Amino acid sequence: MSLRGKSVLLIIGGGIAAYKSLELVRRLRERGVRVRAILTRAGAEFVTALSVSSLTGEKTWQDLFSLTDEAEMGHIQLSRAADLLVVAPATADLMAKLAQGHASDLASTALLATDKPILLAPAMNVRMWNHAATQRNLARLTADGVISIGPNEGEMACGEFGPGRMAEPEEIVEAIETLLVRKATLAGRKALVTAGPTREPLDPVRYLANRSSGKQGYAIAAALAEAGADTTLVSGPVDLAPPPNVTLLKVETGCEMLDVCESVLPADVAVFAAAVADWRPESRADGKLKKRDGDAAPLIRLARNPDILATISRSKNRPALVIGFAAETENVVANGEEKRRRKGCDWIVANDVSAESGVMGGDSNRVHLISAAGVEDWPLMDKREVSRRLVERIGAALKRPAE
Ligand code: C5P
Repeated sequence: MSLRGKSVLLIIGGGIAAYKSLELVRRLRERGVRVRAILTRAGAEFVTALSVSSLTGEKTWQDLFSLTDEAEMGHIQLSRAADLLVVAPATADLMAKLAQGHASDLASTALLATDKPILLAPAMNVRMWNHAATQRNLARLTADGVISIGPNEGEMACGEFGPGRMAEPEEIVEAIETLLVRKATLAGRKALVTAGPTREPLDPVRYLANRSSGKQGYAIAAALAEAGADTTLVSGPVDLAPPPNVTLLKVETGCEMLDVCESVLPADVAVFAAAVADWRPESRADGKLKKRDGDAAPLIRLARNPDILATISRSKNRPALVIGFAAETENVVANGEEKRRRKGCDWIVANDVSAESGVMGGDSNRVHLISAAGVEDWPLMDKREVSRRLVERIGAALKRPAE
């Protein structure tokens, strides 16, 4: 698969590394990528619109309030017509604007108006890069789902040494390729994912449930399908759109979820992200439980629900790779490791769901990947980015025994 026919909107910020962006345009064009460029006012101090246009073969956009530009192609259309937005060099100023959601010039407006992925190639003085404000902005952007490459470490144009050099054009092209060309690393593999809460009925109208949104599990199913896996998502009741190219099987209770999961096996990989209720009401009334004046409040007796992760980890149909989740409010890693052993799965993705973490129902997640090989701490990321990384790791792990 190649980049031919893809389209990139390149935003060239103001930094000496802007000259490398000309080389980036050349390499993208060689691979058949259509490149449109926005040159910021500061960027135009380093390279000219004429040199950019000579290489892109298109006009270079510079002004948010240009009547002719807007008439030809409005800034919203400009940012949406591309498959990907690349900011190279991404200056401290552009990163700050994007982190704050400014729309004060054409570049920041295009970045805010897009519904496409954004790749940043930061380049700046090492002290600017290390400054708390830049690092804060980077963390915010990563949590928003913005992807970044570099900066690299080395001798800088200003004479200092350290991280701050823009990634090389070829490295940026490779990052673009990873983002735009779907690598079918899991083609021919079968995946099972559970997601969402379960509902355990007391009677026909009442149930016990929990606050799981299902977002992480849905994002994992989407990422597995994107990587080419034949993916089945067994989901409790949630308010989310079905991910593309995924077989969605909706269930209500934990017992139903186990039955449906067992019917989907065999699979190569199973990811259990559902928040299955630990207990269910021991009995379910056929009719609505009635309250009568003077009656004592009824007691609800609970029964243990089956543990789907533990059951499938020990079943004869066990997938080659079984991944569980551990939502913890304290001792996240120690409890995750204990859970991995107790449930017999291969990996545990452990996360902090204490109220202050904002993970429950939110779009970001900070996780630890726990395996027999040890623990990896991942930074705070968008749940989709957590999923993409997890799927990359699944691809690598499933490849190993077959090699
Ligand atoms: O024990 P705990 O609920 O914290 O374990 C979480 C992990 O176990 C998750 O991967 C969850 O999907 C799975 N689980 C399950 N069936 C249950 C309870 C948890 O599959 N009844």
